[in-house]
Amino acid sequence: MEIKLVEDTKEIVCDVLIVNKFEDKQTSNELINKFAPETFKGKKGETFLIHTHGSLPSTYVMAVGFGKEDKTDNNVIREAVVKAVKKCIELKAKSIAFNIDSDFIFALPVIVGASIANYNFDKYKTKKEHKISELYISNVSTEGVESAKVMAEAVEFARNIANEPAAYATPTKLAEIAKNIEGIETAIFEEEEIKSLGMGAFLAVAQGSKQPPKFIHMKYSCPNPKKRIAIIGKGLCFDSGGLDIKPAASMLTMKDDMSGAACILGVMQALNKLKPEIEVNGIIAACENMPGCNAYKPGDILTAKNGKTIEVDNTDAEGRLTLADALCYACELNVDEVIDIATLTGACMVALGTAASGIMGNDSDLVNNIIEVGGYCGEKFWELPMWQEYRDNMNSDVADMKNTGTRYGGASAAGMFLKEFVTDNVKWAHLDVAGTAFLEHPSKEFCKGATGVGVRTLLNYII
Ligand code: BES
Ligand code: MG
Ligand code: ZN
Repeated sequence: MEIKLVEDTKEIVCDVLIVNKFEDKQTSNELINKFAPETFKGKKGETFLIHTHGSLPSTYVMAVGFGKEDKTDNNVIREAVVKAVKKCIELKAKSIAFNIDSDFIFALPVIVGASIANYNFDKYKTKKEHKISELYISNVSTEGVESAKVMAEAVEFARNIANEPAAYATPTKLAEIAKNIEGIETAIFEEEEIKSLGMGAFLAVAQGSKQPPKFIHMKYSCPNPKKRIAIIGKGLCFDSGGLDIKPAASMLTMKDDMSGAACILGVMQALNKLKPEIEVNGIIAACENMPGCNAYKPGDILTAKNGKTIEVDNTDAEGRLTLADALCYACELNVDEVIDIATLTGACMVALGTAASGIMGNDSDLVNNIIEVGGYCGEKFWELPMWQEYRDNMNSDVADMKNTGTRYGGASAAGMFLKEFVTDNVKWAHLDVAGTAFLEHPSKEFCKGATGVGVRTLLNYII
């Protein structure tokens, strides 16, 4: 969708001109007074459509409610815009324009919200889905539009990768995508180098697959960075469960087990355009978890990069093994903060559903900052506890720890496992997006499939 900043959207020839109204508030917006009936109150997300019959350059005017003015925020604007955009798609509109009357800064929720709502993964369909091709906006700053565009593209970039079948989005493909991102330095470590780096946990997961693992390190740098951070994405290009194989129904969506990696790729490709004054290291340990004849086995004892040993209790708890080595690697970069994002546990999905991602960490300021930024840009995070009890359940008789605990409290157990691989001087947050990365039903601004979760939060957090 092309985004165009124009002087006055009322003057634009387009299919639908979208105008907003606050609930129960007299408006000076002549378009609302002219086109919307008395009965249109402006309740949040309420819409009303009317043909202009040539009285305006646009074919239709759509009024959309923004709810009570004192309660309006980014989320309200986005939700209302998304409702209107979905209606425009139903109408098969090609071009839409926004005439928004608000003191609130609306470039971000309007552009990003509309773009997410307009998305469909139809690359493999011979008959394409209808999409809006042009969006006009006015009364916002050029910079506001530009950064919103970059963020919208980053989300789309991530969704496209996460929606790809595993046959396409292999570890090798992720490495190739990373290498092709402009304005960042990328190093790819092959199997032999991964071995020399001492990543015994990551390699064990990868060994049951024919696809070679790739350890990807991307780096965005700037002169005199104010801060140095690393962001890590779980990159399981397919998670069959390994020898502890998943039942068919649970395996069905496991091409999405690299959604964390897709998020990191989306974020990294936006950085050179947003030019934040911090150094960002994007890290992905990419592989597949397969039950091939060389697969790692329950009972195997692995040695991670920091020397800690792990007894394999369940080969399906593989994400934390790959992340363990990635976390050690990131901490060795001596960065100030490390944030990992992973479709890590079904338990997190059971706890929070698709409404929110889980968050844990060793620094309350970092965790709270991410929760706050996420809340502002439409991605909810809910903190889960990191209590010693969860760690105690993972004690092993033969190694420093097992890779799983008891049946319950699985998201926290996974968090406590990861903590073993983070050095104390590094601030760390872990985002469990198992429930939010891939939807089985359309919801809010999203269609079925990948949501690109984390891209908006991480980019807004970084800038
Ligand atoms: N990739 C899964 C987690 C997952 C589940 C993501 C559902 C998205 C939707 C992860 O590797 C996994 O299999 N976790 C196991 C851990 C268990 C064996 C301790 C799980 O959650 O069942
Ligand atoms: Mg698994
Ligand atoms: Zn997994």
